[in-house]
Amino acid sequence: MTLTIGVDVGGTKVAGGVVDDDGAVLSSTRRDTPAQDQAGTRDTIAAVAADLAAQHPEATAVGIGAAAWIDASGSTVLFAPNLAWRDEPLRDYVSKAVGLPTVLENDANVAAWAEFRYGAARHADDSMVMITVGTGIGGGVVLGGRLWRGANGIAGELGHIQSVPDGHPCGCGRLGCLEQYASGNALVRFARAGARQEPDRAGLLLDLAGGDPMAIHGRQVTEAAQNGDGVARDAFAQIGYWLGVAMADLAQIFDPQVLVVGGGVIDAGDLLMGPTEDTYRDQLKQRGRFPVAELRAAETGSSAGVVGAADLARQG
Ligand code: BGC
Ligand code: NA
Ligand code: ZN
Repeated sequence: MTLTIGVDVGGTKVAGGVVDDDGAVLSSTRRDTPAQDQAGTRDTIAAVAADLAAQHPEATAVGIGAAAWIDASGSTVLFAPNLAWRDEPLRDYVSKAVGLPTVLENDANVAAWAEFRYGAARHADDSMVMITVGTGIGGGVVLGGRLWRGANGIAGELGHIQSVPDGHPCGCGRLGCLEQYASGNALVRFARAGARQEPDRAGLLLDLAGGDPMAIHGRQVTEAAQNGDGVARDAFAQIGYWLGVAMADLAQIFDPQVLVVGGGVIDAGDLLMGPTEDTYRDQLKQRGRFPVAELRAAETGSSAGVVGAADLARQG
């Protein structure tokens, strides 16, 4: 049994865990991400990994999954659309600080790897594509049983494919990205707009937000939708629609065995998966003439990043 350390770096928290060969998390820890402070973020990541290494001296390697674009050599954070993070040689810094070999990978790539190894695509031996729906939208592509990194390390940035020409501006600099139409942030934007335009259909949602459409937050949209609020349900239907369109495109591009939808927003279950599936099937007009990728919800939950990063570290 080898143990490795996985660290999942998001915009709000740095989560770490010690993981065994079966993908079980033996111990875990988390700290807030000092998101506007690049050196602080780097030091927090190193501290989380060092804490876990001290608790489990038998751990052999560290894997980091970060919400950022990583260079082809897997050593440097190039850019992050939603974090103040540029040109950071993170891999070697952490490796030196902790004294263990370290791998650095994109957060959605590691989540996809966790689903391929242990989750909704564990029965697939060849190919899967995953989209993570959280604050932003991430993507991960596994082809021929390997994580596909691309020529420059940024393959699978599926949040930044264009859904709407000349649409909403995105943190990456482009207009109309999928991330602006199908993320947790997009869900809130749709819900706020709906509550302003049709307050009569948003009674529950407005109650939860103290009457102010601009005070609506993600959890409230889920809770209101679960209790039948029309505007909240429409907001899920809208992000599900855009996700379904993207999934159909991905099926056409990659023809993978499995397509997986993951990320925090899938805690809403069928509210999201229902419209996503319906649109996916509807968009593949020729389905029935040939088999198409099955669409599944992720199964490794909030530990996907930690487990996937630790497993990539184990593979070296
Ligand atoms: C970033 C990705 C990241 C995703 C989810 C996107 O905005 O471009 O690198 O995987 O957010 O965190
Ligand atoms: Na990715
Ligand atoms: Zn973008």
